[in-house]
Amino acid sequence: MSCQIPAGSADELAPGQRKLVFVDGRSIVVFNIEGALCAVENSCPHNGASLAGGQLEGRMIRCPAHGLRFDVATGCMPGKGGLSLTTFPIQNIAGTLELTVDDAPAGPCHTQPG
Ligand code: FES
Repeated sequence: MSCQIPAGSADELAPGQRKLVFVDGRSIVVFNIEGALCAVENSCPHNGASLAGGQLEGRMIRCPAHGLRFDVATGCMPGKGGLSLTTFPIQNIAGTLELTVDDAPAGPCHTQPG
Protein backbone atom coordinates (compact mmCIF):
# COMPACT_ATOMS: atom_id res chain seq x y z
CA MET A 1 0.00 0.00 0.00
CA SER A 2 1.27 3.47 -0.81
CA CYS A 3 0.53 6.89 0.57
CA GLN A 4 1.21 10.49 -0.42
CA ILE A 5 3.19 12.55 2.04
CA PRO A 6 3.89 16.30 1.81
CA ALA A 7 7.64 16.95 1.72
CA GLY A 8 7.81 20.72 1.92
CA SER A 9 7.60 23.60 -0.47
CA ALA A 10 8.92 23.25 -4.01
CA ASP A 11 10.37 26.78 -3.64
CA GLU A 12 12.86 25.40 -1.10
CA LEU A 13 14.40 23.09 -3.69
CA ALA A 14 15.88 25.02 -6.60
CA PRO A 15 17.60 23.21 -9.48
CA GLY A 16 20.90 21.75 -8.26
CA GLN A 17 19.74 21.49 -4.65
CA ARG A 18 18.87 18.52 -2.45
CA LYS A 19 17.11 18.10 0.87
CA LEU A 20 16.55 15.40 3.45
CA VAL A 21 13.03 14.37 4.36
CA PHE A 22 12.10 12.08 7.23
CA VAL A 23 9.00 9.97 6.67
CA ASP A 24 7.78 7.12 8.87
CA GLY A 25 11.25 6.47 10.26
CA ARG A 26 12.77 6.60 6.78
CA SER A 27 15.34 9.09 5.63
CA ILE A 28 14.78 10.16 2.00
CA VAL A 29 16.92 12.49 -0.13
CA VAL A 30 15.07 14.64 -2.64
CA PHE A 31 17.00 16.12 -5.58
CA ASN A 32 16.13 18.79 -8.09
CA ILE A 33 18.21 17.97 -11.15
CA GLU A 34 17.71 20.71 -13.74
CA GLY A 35 14.05 20.92 -12.76
CA ALA A 36 13.45 17.16 -12.55
CA LEU A 37 12.56 15.90 -9.07
CA CYS A 38 14.00 12.59 -7.83
CA ALA A 39 13.70 10.98 -4.39
CA VAL A 40 15.79 8.09 -3.07
CA GLU A 41 16.25 6.27 0.21
CA ASN A 42 19.14 7.80 2.13
CA SER A 43 20.77 4.42 2.58
CA CYS A 44 23.22 2.89 0.15
CA PRO A 45 22.17 -0.66 -0.79
CA HIS A 46 25.81 -1.77 -0.52
CA ASN A 47 26.36 -1.19 3.17
CA GLY A 48 23.87 1.42 4.34
CA ALA A 49 25.94 4.60 4.13
CA SER A 50 24.12 7.92 3.87
CA LEU A 51 23.91 9.18 0.29
CA ALA A 52 22.79 12.70 1.23
CA GLY A 53 26.31 14.11 0.95
CA GLY A 54 27.32 12.07 -2.09
CA GLN A 55 28.77 13.75 -5.16
CA LEU A 56 26.23 14.18 -7.94
CA GLU A 57 27.29 13.96 -11.60
CA GLY A 58 24.19 14.54 -13.69
CA ARG A 59 21.72 11.99 -12.34
CA MET A 60 24.43 9.74 -10.88
CA ILE A 61 25.11 9.90 -7.14
CA ARG A 62 28.41 8.55 -5.86
CA CYS A 63 28.23 6.92 -2.44
CA PRO A 64 30.73 8.62 -0.13
CA ALA A 65 31.63 5.32 1.55
CA HIS A 66 32.96 3.09 -1.25
CA GLY A 67 32.21 5.02 -4.41
CA LEU A 68 29.44 2.95 -6.01
CA ARG A 69 27.27 5.05 -8.32
CA PHE A 70 23.50 5.01 -8.70
CA ASP A 71 21.09 6.80 -11.00
CA VAL A 72 18.79 8.76 -8.67
CA ALA A 73 15.95 8.59 -11.22
CA THR A 74 15.96 4.80 -11.67
CA GLY A 75 17.91 3.61 -8.61
CA CYS A 76 20.12 1.50 -10.87
CA MET A 77 23.88 1.21 -11.09
CA PRO A 78 25.56 1.80 -14.47
CA GLY A 79 25.33 -1.25 -16.74
CA LYS A 80 23.06 -4.24 -16.26
CA GLY A 81 22.10 -5.69 -12.91
CA GLY A 82 23.87 -4.70 -9.73
CA LEU A 83 22.47 -3.26 -6.56
CA SER A 84 19.30 -1.21 -6.62
CA LEU A 85 18.69 1.99 -4.72
CA THR A 86 15.11 2.49 -3.52
CA THR A 87 13.41 5.36 -5.35
CA PHE A 88 10.14 7.13 -4.60
CA PRO A 89 7.78 8.95 -6.94
CA ILE A 90 7.70 12.68 -6.21
CA GLN A 91 5.62 15.44 -7.70
CA ASN A 92 5.23 19.18 -7.42
CA ILE A 93 1.54 19.69 -6.72
CA ALA A 94 0.59 23.35 -6.59
CA GLY A 95 3.98 24.24 -5.10
CA THR A 96 4.09 21.43 -2.56
CA LEU A 97 6.44 18.46 -2.94
CA GLU A 98 4.45 15.26 -2.57
CA LEU A 99 6.24 11.97 -1.99
CA THR A 100 4.60 8.62 -2.68
CA VAL A 101 5.91 6.07 -0.22
CA ASP A 102 5.26 2.40 -0.74
CA ASP A 103 6.02 -0.44 1.63
CA ALA A 104 7.04 -2.76 -1.21
CA PRO A 105 10.79 -3.34 -1.58
CA ALA A 106 12.60 -2.17 -4.71
CA GLY A 107 12.60 -4.57 -7.61
CA PRO A 108 15.61 -5.63 -9.68
CA CYS A 109 17.10 -3.12 -12.08
CA HIS A 110 16.25 -3.53 -15.73
CA THR A 111 16.60 0.03 -16.94
CA GLN A 112 19.69 1.82 -18.16
CA PRO A 113 20.68 5.32 -17.09
CA GLY A 114 19.76 7.83 -19.78
S1 FES B 1 28.08 1.73 1.48
FE1 FES B 1 27.77 2.75 -0.40
S2 FES B 1 29.27 1.95 -1.73
FE2 FES B 1 29.58 0.86 0.15
